[in-house]
Amino acid sequence: MKVTPLHPHLGAEVAGVELKAMDGATFKQVFDAFQQYSVLVFHDQRLTDEEQMAFTERFGPLEETLKATGKENRLHPKLVDLSNVDPDHDERLMGWGDRRMLYQSGNQLWHTDSSFKPVPAMASLLSGREVPPAGGETEFVSMRHAWDTLPEATRRRLEERVVVHSILYSRSTIARGLFDPEHERELAPVRQALVRVNPVNGRKGIYIGSHAWYIEGMEHGESRRLLDDLLVHTTRAECVLRHRWTRWDLVMWDNRCVLHRGRPWDAERHKRVMRRTTIAGEGPTVEPPFATRTPAWEGIIAQGVGQPRGGTP
Ligand code: OGA
Ligand code: MN
Repeated sequence: MKVTPLHPHLGAEVAGVELKAMDGATFKQVFDAFQQYSVLVFHDQRLTDEEQMAFTERFGPLEETLKATGKENRLHPKLVDLSNVDPDHDERLMGWGDRRMLYQSGNQLWHTDSSFKPVPAMASLLSGREVPPAGGETEFVSMRHAWDTLPEATRRRLEERVVVHSILYSRSTIARGLFDPEHERELAPVRQALVRVNPVNGRKGIYIGSHAWYIEGMEHGESRRLLDDLLVHTTRAECVLRHRWTRWDLVMWDNRCVLHRGRPWDAERHKRVMRRTTIAGEGPTVEPPFATRTPAWEGIIAQGVGQPRGGTP
């Protein structure tokens, strides 16, 4: 096995392994590389859905995915299907104007997977089954590096803070009505630590992204400005690791300390079919309560929040 770093802050390419037939000693090396580099890229991994789930489960239990509006559940409930192929017409491609693609376009905002759940995901594994010839890259930044490079005074402001995350908030900045009304009620905002520590190596990182809505105990406008400033700091151009997909790449990332986003492509012309498996987190990041139904929350349900930008990304 050969590990080659891809960027000074995060990411490594791992060569000379086959994910579907890996012995225990090699798996341990992959596990250690993952803790260290946060993003691992493997090429030429022709996995079936079952093989991808089996490899993922070696790290821990799989997370179940959210039911999205306008998508039938064609696949196993523990697989995320990211595809622009129209489920009703096999050969028809959906462009960004298609409502079913709007929900997916939320992936183009910097985020960390399922931070809107009381127990957020530990890691995600994305397999490129059909990839477009241009665009459709996935980008990554390190929230550990972001923490390491913050001024001491800002760090002191962040320690012990709790951030309320909500997918209704993040999706409301794209368009309204992306969830069914009955389903919306189940998606209560959750509380997450603003600073997280990796239990294996003790490294700290901030924990933000598109679902991060406001900081508890801080005036709303001030907390929005702080979250926006932290995102700008974290996602500076020189901090970004960009992955250009080749078919059968498998990329895994550490949701505890990495933000990612997908980039647009010409979705009307080119297929992009990806499968994601997700490793469940080990527990909540704060003390109880884990969810919070505040008046602001009732406000989103009543009329939506944010500035819907509408339409195409
Ligand atoms: C994801 C995701 C981005 C992409 O699978 O969680 O955000 O590039 N994907 O498809
Ligand atoms: Mn994602």
